Amino acid sequence: MSMVRTVADASALAEAAAGHFALMAEEAIAKRGRFAVALSGGSTPRRMYERLAQPELAERIDWLRVHVFWGDERAVPPEHPESNYRMAHEVLLSRVPIPAQNIHRIRGELAPEEAAKTYEAELRQFFSRDQRPVSSRFDLVLLGMGEDGHTASLFPGAAAINETDRWVVAYYVEKLQAWRITLTPVVLNAAAQVTFLVSGAEKAARLRQVLYGPYQPQALPAQIIRPAHGRLLWLIDEAAAGLV
Ligand code: 6PG
Repeated sequence: MSMVRTVADASALAEAAAGHFALMAEEAIAKRGRFAVALSGGSTPRRMYERLAQPELAERIDWLRVHVFWGDERAVPPEHPESNYRMAHEVLLSRVPIPAQNIHRIRGELAPEEAAKTYEAELRQFFSRDQRPVSSRFDLVLLGMGEDGHTASLFPGAAAINETDRWVVAYYVEKLQAWRITLTPVVLNAAAQVTFLVSGAEKAARLRQVLYGPYQPQALPAQIIRPAHGRLLWLIDEAAAGLV
């Protein structure tokens, strides 16, 4: 089941997304004693993380019970300006009392395939600790959408879009001339809640295609995201909703 919620602008989107995160965290911790979330990179979530780090929201969350993962990472060290980990650490994780061992970054400093294998092992180990099958999945996955319809690091034409076994893969993205490590639809679609954050008029035409156009995930990877037993929410601003 997918829902679209439109808010006024990028600032309202950050506000709504941060409030959504806090609510999801409170619910998961109350029900299952922990909140496992996969963060996205990109400029849209960055504004949300900055808002979430402010006391009136951050203080609602029991960070000792929060486990943070990433949906994808660039094949760079953690201190690199391109690192998704670095961005989230800078604007959020360094400002809230989350234990270091609850921060599960993708080790972009390793050879890409090794980083993918190491991360998959860490994910499987983390979720195997959950005795109850219902909780052996992410409580929340945050995703963005690129102007080309990519999400996480699932870019148009990537074999990873059709992956059915592995949870994490690494591959060379021709259009970026760079290696990326990404969660695959196998684990993304197992989440209890997947929430896209999309802002800006430059995405309006693509968003319309993704939401209401023909199903063609090889061309529009964001379409592959359809949680099997979870909820899908598109949190968008009016500029991105311009053609929807
Ligand atoms: C990344 C993200 C990527 C991002 C989109 C949208 O590593 O950059 O995973 O998929 O979500 O490119 O980015 P914006 O929200 O900044 O437009």
